[in-house]
Amino acid sequence: MVRYLTGIQPSGALHIGNYFGALKPAVELQNKGEAFYFIADYHALTSLQDPPALREYVRGVALDFLACGLDPDRACFFRQSDVPLVTELTWILSTVTPMSLLERSHSYKDKTARGIPSSHGLFAYPVLMAADILLYSADVVPVGKDQKQHLEITRDIAIKFNEAYGSTLKVPEPLIREEVATVVGLDGQKMSKSYDNTIEIFGPEKLIRKKVMSIVTDSTPVEAPKDLTNSTILQLYRLFAAPEQIASMEDAFRAGGIGYGEFKKQLFEVIWNAFAPMRARRAELEADLNYVDEVLRAGALRATDVAKKTLEKVRTAVGLA
Ligand code: ADP
Ligand code: TRP
Repeated sequence: MVRYLTGIQPSGALHIGNYFGALKPAVELQNKGEAFYFIADYHALTSLQDPPALREYVRGVALDFLACGLDPDRACFFRQSDVPLVTELTWILSTVTPMSLLERSHSYKDKTARGIPSSHGLFAYPVLMAADILLYSADVVPVGKDQKQHLEITRDIAIKFNEAYGSTLKVPEPLIREEVATVVGLDGQKMSKSYDNTIEIFGPEKLIRKKVMSIVTDSTPVEAPKDLTNSTILQLYRLFAAPEQIASMEDAFRAGGIGYGEFKKQLFEVIWNAFAPMRARRAELEADLNYVDEVLRAGALRATDVAKKTLEKVRTAVGLA
């Protein structure tokens, strides 16, 4: 059976870009193989130094994932830091990781350019990520395009380790979600919490409405036909609306006579309705946080079992056992 593994950083409330880019594909994969999904809280420490916020985001990601259909009976769902063995593997892997490999990392350069303080943790981020993947002997790692280089680094590290110490670690395959189009944000750029242009999956109604109404549009007057090619409203509408609704909005764009405000209201309705069942499920889970804690505890136990076996092999291979 194929083992899928992926992690998501708890660095803010999840938005609809994360939903289409990460959550939905992960939920679909849980039926196709053995899934290991975790909340990468050790990674989040590289850019978040706010203990109450970190706790809140971890809980939020757990609720979001479960509300969106992660089935803990199928997927092993856990918090990264509940299996601290991963840090030991990180250390051992770091001793076979060439500095030059990390110096080439785009993500390190991007993050420091965005003002995230450079630290050893931020620099070594890909080694921890390699440990996440190799510890659980993942076959396939589904990630967004932004994580492609991290997967290449992971493979390089595994190969280096195996060359030095004999075949020990499984070299994983990336599953890059090329087919998932980048979801655009309120300003027409890629939706990302770093650009402050997000629509949260589970935000309060008033806020989501306000955000949708604040989508940036061109200044075409109400009467005039509207441009279909670059419209953020249409791009988002296509993700949620039924084909006939999409065709009807496109016709209205071509015809003119309706202002963007009206289209935004229609967009808000489809977004709000699309997440209604998940919102209800999330409210149930929020009222039963013990259940959520129990899911994560059980996931960590299962993950620890797998982790111990790999680490035992690694310790023996390098001469620590
Ligand atoms: P952010 O850009 O908001 O910081 P992350 O990098 O934490 O989001 O995203 C986690 C995963 O969610 C990414 O690896 C990617 O797969 C997916 N993702 C994020 N933003 C988008 C987007 N706008 N469109 C599609 N997928 C996205
Ligand atoms: N770096 C990933 C991101 O920012 C999150 C992550 C951490 C991850 N460890 C992982 C993804 C292991 C896949 C596998 O999106």
